[in-house]
Amino acid sequence: MDTYPFERLITVEGAADRDAAEALVNRVFGPGRYIKTAERLRENNAPIDGLSFVMRQITRGKAREQGLTGSVRLWPIKVYDPEHEPLGELAFLGPIAVDPDHQNHGIGRALIEVAIRAAFARGVTGILLVGTPAYFEKFGFVRAEGLTLPGPVDYRRLMIRYNDAYTGEPLTGAVDK
Ligand SMILES: CC(C)(COP(=O)(O)OP(=O)(O)OC[C@H]1O[C@@H](n2cnc3c(N)ncnc32)[C@H](O)[C@@H]1OP(=O)(O)O)[C@@H](O)C(=O)NCCC(=O)NCCS
Repeated sequence: MDTYPFERLITVEGAADRDAAEALVNRVFGPGRYIKTAERLRENNAPIDGLSFVMRQITRGKAREQGLTGSVRLWPIKVYDPEHEPLGELAFLGPIAVDPDHQNHGIGRALIEVAIRAAFARGVTGILLVGTPAYFEKFGFVRAEGLTLPGPVDYRRLMIRYNDAYTGEPLTGAVDK
């Protein structure tokens, strides 16, 4: 799918977008998002500067307020050995949320592709996420073997994509902030 027309509407999330992005994520996921293990990696953490993106709504005329139809964020995480010594750094992708009225039109794909490109251009070693394999396999994510999260998770849904420029071994250990 050619996502270029969408990518022109994607920008780095600015301070002025923050509330709208939060509202969108809450609308898509509901209050249950805060009990997920993934949230343990986000609480008391801050997204990586410049690696959160929003998709702007296409508006016609002046009547409609400009809103957001999609949001994705990347967070700094580390992989630790059993002595809690850091072994390496990764980025945790999530949440990725597309407004229910605008799903299945390629917005999610465009946001993920932009986020991956930007992260890898910055030298991020790899991107980890918890998501539906059938969706994320399309972006080169594979099951993350040998990594554990700080809470219960369906490990079939823990996926990773390493930067092509990363020549090291896949990281194994405990993932935390
Ligand atoms: C998942 C989500 C981000 C995808 O974004 P989107 O803009 O709707 O999807 P896209 O248009 O990029 O991709 C659509 C394709 O993905 C597929 N797809 C969408 N959601 C999927 C899912 N959960 N599992 C498998 N495939 C999925 C569609 O069937 C479609 O397939 P096709 O290209 O072969 O026709 C979006 O639907 C969303 O926010 N959903 C609710 C929240 C959520 O589930 N977030 C992700 C956690 S895994």
